[in-house]
Amino acid sequence: MTILKPQARPTRPYFSSGPCAKPPGWSADKLATDSLGRSHRSKLGKARLKRCIDLMRSCLQLPDTHRIGIVPGSDTGAYEMAMWTMLGARPVTALAWESFGEGWVTDVVKQLKLDPLVVRADYGQLPDLAAVDWNSDVLFTWNGTTSGVRVPDGEWIAEDRAGLSIADATSAVFAYDLPWDRIDVATFSWQKVLGGEGAHGVLILGPRAVERLESYTPAWPLPKLFRLTKGGKLTEGVFAGETINTPSMLAVEDAIFALEWIEGLGGLGGAIARTQANAAALDRIVEQRPWLGHLAAAPASRSTTSVCLTVDGADEARIKRMASLLEAEGAAFDIAGYRDAPPGLRIWCGATVEAEDIVALGPWLDWAFEATA
Ligand SMILES: Cc1ncc(COP(=O)(O)O)c(C=O)c1O
Repeated sequence: MTILKPQARPTRPYFSSGPCAKPPGWSADKLATDSLGRSHRSKLGKARLKRCIDLMRSCLQLPDTHRIGIVPGSDTGAYEMAMWTMLGARPVTALAWESFGEGWVTDVVKQLKLDPLVVRADYGQLPDLAAVDWNSDVLFTWNGTTSGVRVPDGEWIAEDRAGLSIADATSAVFAYDLPWDRIDVATFSWQKVLGGEGAHGVLILGPRAVERLESYTPAWPLPKLFRLTKGGKLTEGVFAGETINTPSMLAVEDAIFALEWIEGLGGLGGAIARTQANAAALDRIVEQRPWLGHLAAAPASRSTTSVCLTVDGADEARIKRMASLLEAEGAAFDIAGYRDAPPGLRIWCGATVEAEDIVALGPWLDWAFEATA
């Protein structure tokens, strides 16, 4: 049977896992631009940076115990900053179950030359979280973007931990209800669930992380870009919009647009509901097709943002052909799985995607699957 090309395309065929689709209704001319061409340390510049920080705090319902700041280098910058400033004080456990977690292991071992306990799991699986030793600092990725496997919740993070929980939460923030009392450090980038731009990272610090920063000096040199303390005290300005170096005010204005959109959804709950509806719509597509499956084995730890799918019998070349056909048709952009992951498709279901576009994608997947057989 030949499957005809579907008539209807997703209105917004943007399913990339980063940078992710812009918020619905976004257009560049809707961004406030008064702060552009001005010093970021002017009254206006500082006010806009503070507005961005305040919106992140209120939308995330971040408790007063936690600081939130804008730092250079997107999520990578924020996470590296945490590792380079805090690690080395105690033993380290590094959990890795996909490419980004593995990247942090590489840095801890090869760059910081620490000797972490590395606990790995294959793509599609989670390591045994119950076995984690909370006497150590623990590095992990809340939502593994390249395998679609996330931690199910924060219950496995010991309340009375001696070490720090240090979460790369870039594909998780604004998509899950994060238990801040269990999180000492979290990092993310605007380019994911918010549909913002890269370039800047967001660093969230709980009180225990601040205590570490103020009581411990690493053995290695720290570039200015990573320094968070002065004279043994936290540089509080970083968490009030006095960025370490010059930010892109355009990226900041774009983030404010996205955050105001989230605010309009009713905040975090609205964003989470949209993500869940998108993931459920994709789930129905998968259930109806014997040739599609989830890479993430256990439903409880299946991502609702970066959903990774297996495609029966498809090797990397066929996946590439499927993705290019769909791109050429304007039906789906950027849905081939990550280069280090097993061949498959990856479809972003974060809040900025519309559920009806996921629904409209289903018949196009059928068409591309058959067209590449
Ligand atoms: C889990 C995870 N960590 C880190 C990164 C790197 O993020 P960035 O390019 O924003 O630094 C990504 C990007 O996809 C990611 O998904």
